[in-house]
Amino acid sequence: MADIKKILVTGGLGFIGSNFVRHVLQTKDWHILNLDLKTYSGNPENLKEFSGNPRYQWIHADITDPTAVKPLMGQVSTVIHFAAETHVDRSILDGTSFVKTNVLGTQVLLEAARENNMKLFLHVSTDEVYGSVAQGESLETDPLLPNSPYAASKASSDLMARAYHVTHGLPVVVTRCSNNFGPYQYPEKALPLLITNAMRDIPFPLYGDGSHVRDWLYVIDHVKALILLLEKGVPGEIYNIGGSFSISNRDLVNQVLGIMKKPTTLIQPVADRPGHDRRYALNCDKLKKLGWKPETSFQEALHETIRWYQAHKDWWQPLIEKKSFQTYYKKQYEDRPGEKG
Ligand code: NAD
Ligand code: TYD
Repeated sequence: MADIKKILVTGGLGFIGSNFVRHVLQTKDWHILNLDLKTYSGNPENLKEFSGNPRYQWIHADITDPTAVKPLMGQVSTVIHFAAETHVDRSILDGTSFVKTNVLGTQVLLEAARENNMKLFLHVSTDEVYGSVAQGESLETDPLLPNSPYAASKASSDLMARAYHVTHGLPVVVTRCSNNFGPYQYPEKALPLLITNAMRDIPFPLYGDGSHVRDWLYVIDHVKALILLLEKGVPGEIYNIGGSFSISNRDLVNQVLGIMKKPTTLIQPVADRPGHDRRYALNCDKLKKLGWKPETSFQEALHETIRWYQAHKDWWQPLIEKKSFQTYYKKQYEDRPGEKG
């Protein structure tokens, strides 16, 4: 088991990263350096309760900048790399920042980790690298067939991480997780968009026929899997994380609206996302053999997530009021070419 004292977290101000940092600070004695550029999806509010905590420090810098990254690597034994551009729809509008941050940024981190003889580098990848899975479940050994610019940039960084292990012997663990949900998810992603729109009686734009299937995992169960892999993951190995609950988008939207006691007239069918993957599904036997399983049922986690957004309007309202969010929303949903339903 790795002896972890101080870790470098990249992207710790984002959705999964901030849940990870909070959980670690509450359950472990590790020290955390959080390297985050605070892009539109990075939010210092997510971790404001830890400002002044001697075990936590936020470094406001860019992972693509070697002069910022290198000095940090000398201070830690372990890296967990979340920082990325993460929204598929934005990658369709313009993939440039996805290549820069996800591909170049990951390589800059790997290079600095190699120079500093890092004990473990955990690269957080995604099930989207496998592409759409018509039947069955993706295994860690399956070929990568990413379909969106986001997924292609994540597949590139995932393979770069593997290459640093094979070529340089850097102890790399790669994880590929399914769709996360829970508190602090930026309100452009499907579930928070649906909940926050429904709270304001604004329709949810359902892409295409709504029959696309996603595998959903509560973010805290993801965080617990990551901690287990930091402690017990085998360098050079890839681990799928997820496999707990599959549902079509239409069924998910109906469930959420039902829980929120909102009418289904809030479902607004819109033109499909280009290249929209029909289905993701993961086989997670490898991770389960290490002792992990999701602890929170989908229903329990969904209710909890809805309650969180209902109780934290003060968190999401300022985000959707920002001009940058409104410009994105207009471009994505109002100015899109093609039929709207
Ligand atoms: P997010 O968009 O909420 O957060 C990304 C964070 O990275 C933000 O805090 C942002 O400021 C930071 N960042 C972006 N560019 C940066 C740069 N150049 N330098 C430093 N920091 C930068 O994303 P998330 O949903 O928390 O996802 C985290 C990771 O998990 C990503 O690598 C993503 O691909 C992966 N992942 C996400 C999901 C999901 O469902 N959200 C599922 C599987 C894998
Ligand atoms: P999203 O949260 O963007 O995650 P991903 O594309 O990475 O799976 O979307 C989840 C699903 O919801 C996906 O099939 C696309 C669909 N979706 C909509 O139907 N409407 C929307 O406005 C959004 C953002 C997503």
